[in-house]
Amino acid sequence: MTSLADIWPPYALTLSTPRLTLRPVLDADIPAAVAAARSGIHEAGRSPFSTPWAELPDSELAPNMAQWYWRCRANFAPAEWTLLLGVWQQDEFLGVQDLGAKDFAVLRTVGTGSWLKRAAQGRGIGKEMRAAVVSYAFDYLQAEVAESEAATWNRQSLGVSAGLGYEPNGLFRHSWGSKVEEVQKVRLTPGTFHRPDWTLQVRGHEALKSYLGLEGR
Ligand SMILES: CC(C)(COP(=O)(O)OP(=O)(O)OC[C@H]1O[C@@H](n2cnc3c(N)ncnc32)[C@H](O)[C@@H]1OP(=O)(O)O)[C@@H](O)C(=O)NCCC(=O)NCCS
Repeated sequence: MTSLADIWPPYALTLSTPRLTLRPVLDADIPAAVAAARSGIHEAGRSPFSTPWAELPDSELAPNMAQWYWRCRANFAPAEWTLLLGVWQQDEFLGVQDLGAKDFAVLRTVGTGSWLKRAAQGRGIGKEMRAAVVSYAFDYLQAEVAESEAATWNRQSLGVSAGLGYEPNGLFRHSWGSKVEEVQKVRLTPGTFHRPDWTLQVRGHEALKSYLGLEGR
């Protein structure tokens, strides 16, 4: 029988690290993602996200998250895409690591974003999952630059970036709702990447590569 991954190529992708499995969030995974977010992602009143989605009341959080997963899926196209990967440790859903690009065929630049439930933070998992998608981008998609950004006070996110060799790429003032946020942009290239001491295991790359029109790379 035809599987979902045969129909929708991004679904075939699975990235494995020593502790983690990263794979696209399926509809069946959304309840686990919502439960992880509801268990808490950050300190109350201190959203690390430009849109404070994790602070929505319970009744709005679930539909908002589901709609975001559907929107990224519906808008996924070679010209602009965001791959939302659920992060699993065995059967436990820990958070989401995303990898996205615009005009990738020309710019060969990817961006990332991520969150972990609080119970999973501070154990090197954020670094492991970011290393996974960056390794995938550099070694499989032949990306030349990986970018990220975080509020200047977000030591955890900037700690992950620094630990992997990202370099500062400018301070910007962004409007996060009605307030100004100082945002630190950071940038990584294959030459500055502090590679992990493990090798990423990848399944399902060929279908995604062809869907993105990256044949010949
Ligand atoms: C950002 C996040 C994904 C990082 O994941 P994590 O598992 O907590 O981070 P790690 O344990 O992998 O830490 C990675 C690095 O940051 C450093 N770090 C972590 N917390 C830190 C802190 N509070 N202060 C300073 N450094 C810190 C670690 O020492 C480590 O550096 P090293 O590898 O050089 O030792 C996670 O904390 C999170 O989900 N936070 C809330 C949501 C969020 O901020 N998302 C990003 C929005 S831009």
